[in-house]
Amino acid sequence: MTQAYTIIDHTFDVVVVGAGGSGLRATVACVESGLNTACISKVFPTRSHTVAAQGGIASSLGNMGPDDWRWHMYDTVKGSDWLGDQDAIEYMVREAVPSIIELEHYGVPFSRTEDGKIYQRPFGGMTTEFGQGPAAQRTCAAADSTGHAILHTLYQQSLKHHAQFFVEYFALDLIMDEEGACRGVIAWNLADGSIHRFRAQRVILATGGYGRAYFSCTAAHTCTGDGNAMALRAGLPTQDMEFVQFHPTGIYGAGVLITEGVRGEGGILRNNSGERFMERYAPTYKDLASRDEVSRSMTMEIREGRGVGERGDHIHLDLTHLDPNVINKRLPGIAKHAKVFAGVDVTKQPIPVIPTCHYNMGGVQTNFHGEVVTMQGDDPHAVVPGLMAVGEAACVSVHGANRLGSNSLLDLVVFGRAAGLRCGAELTPGATQAELPSTANDRALERLDRTRHAKGETAPSALREEMQRTMQECAAVFRTGDTLEEGVQRLTTMWDKKADIGLADRSLIWNSELMEALEFDNLSYQAVATMKAARNRTESRGAHSREDYNQRDDKDWMKHSLIWVNDEGKAKIDYRPVKLETMTKDVEVFPPQKRVY
Ligand code: SIN
Repeated sequence: MTQAYTIIDHTFDVVVVGAGGSGLRATVACVESGLNTACISKVFPTRSHTVAAQGGIASSLGNMGPDDWRWHMYDTVKGSDWLGDQDAIEYMVREAVPSIIELEHYGVPFSRTEDGKIYQRPFGGMTTEFGQGPAAQRTCAAADSTGHAILHTLYQQSLKHHAQFFVEYFALDLIMDEEGACRGVIAWNLADGSIHRFRAQRVILATGGYGRAYFSCTAAHTCTGDGNAMALRAGLPTQDMEFVQFHPTGIYGAGVLITEGVRGEGGILRNNSGERFMERYAPTYKDLASRDEVSRSMTMEIREGRGVGERGDHIHLDLTHLDPNVINKRLPGIAKHAKVFAGVDVTKQPIPVIPTCHYNMGGVQTNFHGEVVTMQGDDPHAVVPGLMAVGEAACVSVHGANRLGSNSLLDLVVFGRAAGLRCGAELTPGATQAELPSTANDRALERLDRTRHAKGETAPSALREEMQRTMQECAAVFRTGDTLEEGVQRLTTMWDKKADIGLADRSLIWNSELMEALEFDNLSYQAVATMKAARNRTESRGAHSREDYNQRDDKDWMKHSLIWVNDEGKAKIDYRPVKLETMTKDVEVFPPQKRVY
């Protein structure tokens, strides 16, 4: 029986869950529209994982040479391996231009060219002339701390407009009514143990990705996909969860990100004979091919005995030929990371790197206004009233099967802004809200209480490691039917053991054991979704590379996966077509082609 908890009630026009780039950008747009807006975050806003984004944010400003949003659109469609929805991609790349100018006016300290324009560097898969011209210089950078710069600026803007922050509040579950509308969210105040019930006209999930489902990732420990799990528990599907991006250059052993901007500034990947092997795999764009391509090529080099180090199990990223002034001015952060985490001086030694789990293309299905949509009858685009999702938590889908570097910060800003603008256009500030259903707290508090008082023999941390190792071993850069089947079996065993977890600390005040157990539970839903969706997809597309089905199969598989996971860990999978229509007539659909770089 659930122990009685004291509930503190709040009513807002909009509640944003998460204070990373997308959450803060949505918050700013909502408060600018005059909406009474709360932003709930389990960490202090400027500690959100966006702070770790290094290389930059894509926008066809054309400051360093000719550029065009249509070229950016083509690159993004191609990068997505034709799984991205082309209307949403058009929206993103067009809005990239005003969105970045807005950030500049908000105060983001972008690096500058000699004549004072925003500095832009090349990034993987970003080209000119629809892939026929040289690499585009499209990625706007604040040295190699672009996420840090954007996050701090957006936090300042939110404070300027008097957004209300609930810091170190952990969102537990959504409040859904009988009609399937979202009416708010229940959160636990980690500092004093109180439970808070937020009622809102709209809830915007901006909870980031679930990188921590893997053993080695570039994501912070906080990246546990809490919003995706809340949506799944609310009976909503997640989309395209089989597509998990491995960034080519995580520091070997530590997993810490070394930005693609390093290769944009001229860094080169080398194997154990010092060969620039990317010339063999991607003759035109070489080290600046798309991430999935580079990660696969590195893995092939290692598998074929050309890796570096005592075990031959990683690759070198060489910057020693770069002018030290370029490193000091454009890449000061990674020089420090390489020193601290790999013990190398980048001006004299290469950085040991390995493909590392970095980004989840999948998430809660939305349209390009940020509204969560679901399958209703035959309609896969039915809007879920009251619920929105943005950033890495969402799958719009603009990244399809593989995201291009620097399109993530862009996604955060463009769709955070879009969701806030939608709220501004559709909501009346201060409108009266109906009473919450009598069952509003039940699911969240039952789960909290059950976990808090769990008396079994298994430590949640041990189960978490079991899950992370399973994901790492069975659903990594290359997959086969056998590894995925094994992964499903191992996750089923892991799920069954969840009934036997035991916690030592039963308090509600700064109980990090309880919080980590709930975060692990959130991750477990997404691990199952990823593994089962990957097992089902019998083709190779983007980051989903099946050795037993090594070709893209547009006839049978040019479709998005929708996957539901229930509280028993059972999954249901359905599909919806890729949107092969543009948003306007200013550009034509890019029909599927073979993807070569
Ligand atoms: C990087 O700087 O390489 C990471 C940025 C991104 O993932 O877009």
